[in-house]
Amino acid sequence: MRSSGHVPIEYFIENDRKPDLLPEVYKKSAPYCGGPKKVNVARFFEKKYHDLEVERLWKKVWQMACREDDIPEVGDYLLYQIANLEFIVVRTGEHEFKAFPNACLHRGRRLCNHGGKKAGVFRCPYHGWSWNTDGTLKEITAEWDFPGVRDEVARLPEAKTAAWGGFVFINPDPQAISFEDFAGPEMLEHYKKFKLENRYKQVHVGRVIRANWKLVEEAFLEAYHSIATHPQLLLSGGDLTDTRYDVFGNWARLGHINASGSSPLRGILISQEQSLEIFRMMADFNKRYLSSLIGDEVEQFSDAELVEQTFNNLFPNFSPWGGWARIVYRFRPNGDNPDECIMEAMLLAPWPEDKPKPPAAKLRMLGRDEPWVTAEELGTLARIFDQDCGNVPDVHLGLKTKEPPYVIYSAYQESIIRAFHDTYERMLGLAEGE
Ligand code: FES
Ligand SMILES: [Fe+2]
Repeated sequence: MRSSGHVPIEYFIENDRKPDLLPEVYKKSAPYCGGPKKVNVARFFEKKYHDLEVERLWKKVWQMACREDDIPEVGDYLLYQIANLEFIVVRTGEHEFKAFPNACLHRGRRLCNHGGKKAGVFRCPYHGWSWNTDGTLKEITAEWDFPGVRDEVARLPEAKTAAWGGFVFINPDPQAISFEDFAGPEMLEHYKKFKLENRYKQVHVGRVIRANWKLVEEAFLEAYHSIATHPQLLLSGGDLTDTRYDVFGNWARLGHINASGSSPLRGILISQEQSLEIFRMMADFNKRYLSSLIGDEVEQFSDAELVEQTFNNLFPNFSPWGGWARIVYRFRPNGDNPDECIMEAMLLAPWPEDKPKPPAAKLRMLGRDEPWVTAEELGTLARIFDQDCGNVPDVHLGLKTKEPPYVIYSAYQESIIRAFHDTYERMLGLAEGE
């Protein structure tokens, strides 16, 4: 089925100079069967589908709320928004977090107006009812007037929380399976040695985009668009035609070895041996650079891990790249508007062991139509985002006029998007392609 690159990723993996260090998951491939798949355009802009997402997706799924660093001390808290829902996420211990719907149990006012530091209690600004940061009731104002009510407001309802890789995840569903079971063993193994928890959030930039969140995410779930959208990447990346698409349950991986000086689409080819030489040079270069940051730990990594470029996705909206690439994306609906979304990019960086951990960068929101390149802290990535985000509002508009009213996803190169929509349909209770 794969009509992929001139030099397949497996060739580099088979010729790794440290094969014993390479985790098994790198050697696995898991192509997603079936396809092409048709999907009705309505799920990208009709409010009915947005409302179903709130009830059946966002209230039921594991989702990344923040970095642990965003709330570094016990009692620090922030507000995490998804669609029209809002949660207070608070650090209650060294690696313990809790999350509560941000609504007072009296008459429903938002309990907190904004995040804060070292809180002892959450006190509602309306009538002053308060709860401790562990969710237990502190005080009902003029309790004599609420006989028999204490028990039912004794605890704030809780969302489940999990800490993984320095991120805090929440799931509002009390019946949810554990985060580890949701992510699956392949994802846990793939990131294990990279210890994302040992990185600090160096950059955090976001922007409202005039397109549905799924459309924007889809622009990052295949490399097929590089031919037309990012022509500058073609030669350096072997046209990205070597990309391997794997689906391991809720986690999907787009694997690519960025080491080829060829452009198969334009007939510019170099031999496999030359590609391998470039691959090894890049591994050596990255190793030298990383040793200044992580010291001897760099010896634990194989060539493929040092060079890897996997852009991955945990259903539904969390995309941490693999390896040392540093990049993390998140895509959320913009409030209750299915015509807009918030896209964020973070860069996670290691820091020298003998220096204190730098503080986490605060989110910098760009204006709606402000180009990503104005965020200089994103480096060369910003130009690529501008190319990607140049397409998606026009996709969103095009879908409203499209006849026949469906889109088509391919068998292989768009297989991760197909897998996304299959899971989405299952969670929302939709018919195939509805
Ligand atoms: S609504 Fe919160 S105390 Fe009344
Ligand atoms: Fe792109």
